[in-house]
Amino acid sequence: MMRVLLVCLGNICRSPTAEAALREALAEAGLDGVEVDSAGTGDWHVGRPPDARMIAAASAAGLRLDGTARQLARRDIDAADLVLVMDRSNLKAVRALAPEMATLGKVRLLREFEEGADDDEVPDPYLGDEEGFARVVEITRAAASGVVRHLRARGD
Ligand code: 4NP
Repeated sequence: MMRVLLVCLGNICRSPTAEAALREALAEAGLDGVEVDSAGTGDWHVGRPPDARMIAAASAAGLRLDGTARQLARRDIDAADLVLVMDRSNLKAVRALAPEMATLGKVRLLREFEEGADDDEVPDPYLGDEEGFARVVEITRAAASGVVRHLRARGD
């Protein structure tokens, strides 16, 4: 069993969407044996469902979000084979929790896997408008396809 963990700041916008997008891409590719989960580096929204604006944007694009927010812990990083973060600030927070070289290799920016990406971060939509939430769906779906290609190439 391969474990992929998606990480953002609040675990109510980007990482739950990336989680749903990756599940969708894995199902479309018929790839089994990959467990997908998400967490946030912050604790403000722990126990809450995804942001209503994020749910609406995802739903409009045919993607269903579920789960409730939880805060990333050191054991989550240890248990994961691949930790995919949304931006550099998430990367910094994850590195602070698990600074060892052995761990750092499995921590990557999600958009490294997106073919033709125009940036390497998934912009935080929280303080922006509707368009920002729609972009999160587009970006995470595109990146999820790349992650599936990567997992296939690894033979997982
Ligand atoms: P996320 O978005 O990291 O994509 O879940 C955010 C959610 C909440 C906050 C910031 C970003 N916040 O500051 O509360």
